[in-house]
Amino acid sequence: MNKLLTAALAAGVFFSPIAFAQEPATGTPAQEPVTTAAPAGEPTPAGDTPTGAPSTSAPAANPEPGSTAEQAPAAGASPETSTGGESSAIPVGGEVEGEHETPHYPLQKPAELDWTFAGPFGHWDVGQLQRGLKVYKEVCSSCHGLSLVAFRNLNDLGYNEEQIKAFAAEYTVVSKEPSSDGEYPERPGIPADYFPSPYPNSEAAAASNNGAAPPDLSLMAKARAVERGFPTFVFDVLPWNQYAEGGVDYLHALLTGYTDEVPEGITVQDGTYYNPYFIAGPALAMPQPISDDQVTYDDGTPQTLEQYSRDVSAFLMWTAEPHLVTRKATGMVVLVFMIIFASLLYMVKRRVWADTPH
Ligand code: HEC
Repeated sequence: MNKLLTAALAAGVFFSPIAFAQEPATGTPAQEPVTTAAPAGEPTPAGDTPTGAPSTSAPAANPEPGSTAEQAPAAGASPETSTGGESSAIPVGGEVEGEHETPHYPLQKPAELDWTFAGPFGHWDVGQLQRGLKVYKEVCSSCHGLSLVAFRNLNDLGYNEEQIKAFAAEYTVVSKEPSSDGEYPERPGIPADYFPSPYPNSEAAAASNNGAAPPDLSLMAKARAVERGFPTFVFDVLPWNQYAEGGVDYLHALLTGYTDEVPEGITVQDGTYYNPYFIAGPALAMPQPISDDQVTYDDGTPQTLEQYSRDVSAFLMWTAEPHLVTRKATGMVVLVFMIIFASLLYMVKRRVWADTPH
C-alpha cells in the first residue's frame, strides 16, 4: 500500500508542472470594489446615535473607544464615506448594479483571426514579426514607446549581431551614466539599450496628443482583451480551443476599425476619433495610424492596412510574450513525458503487486 501511495505522490509531483504550463487567463480584472457591504457592517454607531449626532458629541456617548472618530459622523450622514480612507477614491458607493453590463456605446467584437502562434503547436512567423517591427518603427514609434524591449532581443526575430548593432545605432538614447560635467549625454543606441520612448515623460506625451498619453506598447497585446460573454468563454477554455489571442485580435480590430459612420446618438468629442472596437469609449485620441501603402515591404507581402495591422499586432504579441512559443513547446514535451511516465508507473505497479494474492 505504501508503495502505491508513494507512486501516487510521485505522479502528483510530476504532474504539477502542467498546472504551471497553463496560460493565465488574459484580461482578468483586479479586485472588484465592493462598496455596498460596508454600511451594513457598521450598524452600532448608527444605533447609538440614531439622529446622526454631530461627531463632537459622539465620543462621549459611544461605548467603544477607538472606533469613534471615523464611524460616528459616517453612520449618521453619508454611508459612502463609512468605509474609511481605503475606498474613499471610489466615487459612488452602493451602486454596483450595471457594473458588468454592456457599455453604453455599441462595442463591436473583434474578429477572430488565424495566428501562427495560436494553439498548442503555435510558432512565430518570423517574417511577419520582422514586418511588424518595421511598421512599429516607421509608424507607431513616433507616439508609442516600447520600453521593455531591448534591441538585443531582436535576436529572436532572426537578426544577427551586426544587424542589431546597426539597427540600435539608428536610435538616439539618453545615457544612463552622467558625463564628467554631470549631464546625461545623448548617444547612438547599442544592443543593450531599450527602445527609447518618443516623449520624455507622460505629461509631455499627453500634451502633444490632445491630453491622452499614448500608452507604452510593450505589454499591450496582453493588457487588452474583450469580454467574450456566455457561452463563448466556456468553449474558450477547452483544451483544443484555448483561445488566448483576445489581445492581438483586439489590436488588429482597433487598427482596422476606424470609420466615419458614427451611429446616431454618439457624440465624438473634438480631437477624438470614432472606433467601435475601442474598449473604453466610443472614440479615442489616436487618429487612424496606418493606411494602405504607408510602409514599404521588401518581401512582396501586400501593403494593405489589413496586412500591416496583422503584422504589427503579431509583433506586439511577441514583445508582450517573447517566450510564448518556447513555453508552448516545453508544455508539449512535458505532456508527452507525462503520458510515457504514467504508463511506466502503471506497469511498475502491476509488477510490484504481481505476487500479492488478492
Ligand atoms: C499620432 C500619434 C500616434 C500614433 C502614430 C500611433 N498612436 Fe496609438 N495611440 C495614440 C494615443 C494618443 C493613444 C491614446 C488614445 C486614448 O486613450 O484615447 C493611443 C492608444 C493606442 C492603443 C491603446 C488602445 C486602448 O485600448 O487603450 C493602442 C493598442 C495603440 N495606440 C496602438 C498603436 C499602433 C499599433 C500604432 C502603429 C501602427 C499606433 N498606435 C500609432 C497615438 C498614436
